[in-house]
Amino acid sequence: GVKKAWAGRFAEQTDRLVEAFTRSIEVDRRLYRYDIDGSIAHCRTLTKARILTGRESAAIIRGLESVRAELERDQFKFLPEDEDIHMAIERRLTELIGPLGGKLHTGRSRNDQVALDARVYVRDRLAVMINRLKALQRVLVRQAQANRDVAMPGYTHLQRAQPVLFAHHLLAYVEMFERDKGRLRDARTRANVMPLGSGALAGSNYPIDRRYTAALLNFPALSQNSLDAVSDRDFMVEAVAAMALLMMHLSRLSEELILWSTQEFHFVDLPDAFCTGSSMMPQKKNPDVPELVRGKTGRVYGHLMGLLTTLKALPLSYNRDLQEDKPALFDAFDQTDRAVEVMTELMRRLAVDREAVTRALSGGGMLATEIADYLVTKGVPFREAHEITGRIVRWALDQGRELSELSVEELRRFSEKFDSSVLQRLTVRGAIDRKAQIGGTASKQVDRRLRDWAKTLS
Ligand code: ARG
Repeated sequence: GVKKAWAGRFAEQTDRLVEAFTRSIEVDRRLYRYDIDGSIAHCRTLTKARILTGRESAAIIRGLESVRAELERDQFKFLPEDEDIHMAIERRLTELIGPLGGKLHTGRSRNDQVALDARVYVRDRLAVMINRLKALQRVLVRQAQANRDVAMPGYTHLQRAQPVLFAHHLLAYVEMFERDKGRLRDARTRANVMPLGSGALAGSNYPIDRRYTAALLNFPALSQNSLDAVSDRDFMVEAVAAMALLMMHLSRLSEELILWSTQEFHFVDLPDAFCTGSSMMPQKKNPDVPELVRGKTGRVYGHLMGLLTTLKALPLSYNRDLQEDKPALFDAFDQTDRAVEVMTELMRRLAVDREAVTRALSGGGMLATEIADYLVTKGVPFREAHEITGRIVRWALDQGRELSELSVEELRRFSEKFDSSVLQRLTVRGAIDRKAQIGGTASKQVDRRLRDWAKTLS
């Protein structure tokens, strides 16, 4: 086979078992663009430091661009000896331009190289994820606007509690995703630090201008400790933790869609194109997409735990254990990215069954709190008002009556504080629009928030 880059010190060839066991090329080959960009920047930095001549540098960069072209066109032939993407690219570069290729690795180690590749990867994918999330927020805001007049039961303990606007419910998710975007941005800032020049662990012997490398690669900051730079992966943990939280929010939305699309609820109709059937039961239309989002949430949590466990108690600085970071990182990004994308399309095409939602507003006694609050305005202490209202609710239940159907005379049997002004409180609209403080479900508050979002998301 091909001679290993580090073969000089070794008396025997690598065992085949070991070669297969230590290889990471199948996983890290997707970093090739970042690796080549990083190599070009490193090459320019070496040239600026007069370690490479302009002629050498031009030949190396031309060679790297040829390697990139082969990889892009899927014409790159990976060899069993190619341990990882860094070695594979250098091996091919040297085949193409000769021994000059061997000068590229001057003042660099795969340890700072892989840290660089991973940081650029994380920063790029986080930027994409933030935009995807923004698209999902826009769809939710549009659905909220389109269903602006729909009232629905709000739940606690999955029991009907108080009426809310459907738009208010959707906008709750828009708030969650806004915080998720904040966490992703925050993770991105800390990933966006340039590690090249750290060498294997101690720094570089060469007079390289690290600020120049950082500028070439668009990094606003430099790592300040070489041991830290080659050994920590906290930036990955932060990104995956932010994704785990984002998936948690998506899983709650998914759960509600699953529940709402049952025949028992039927608040929504999921688009046929986003459901699957049963091989046995012809009537079935199953909500597999939200179920899988719910399921993949566990998978992303697993990656977070996996990464933390890989890093736990690892001595400084680089250890090969760190190679296990990438499968977790990549899969967390892939799964989360696709989950956000598919949920955005699903929510765009969601149909709300307004009649079913409206029907669910009756019979739940959801105006009971309004009665209690009414009595409070008449000077009754809240605890007493709660007690009186409880008796009214039980009586109405026994009679099979709705609270909104009760007459003032009937109510007065429970307290002489009732007069005809109670009737206008006993409506869903009245109950909703009285929640008029900031953050409440009143139409005017929901409209205000809808306007805020329309502005911030445009
Ligand atoms: N493939 C390794 C990784 O993904 C990078 C190479 C560092 N290897 C080494 N023996 N120092 O972490």
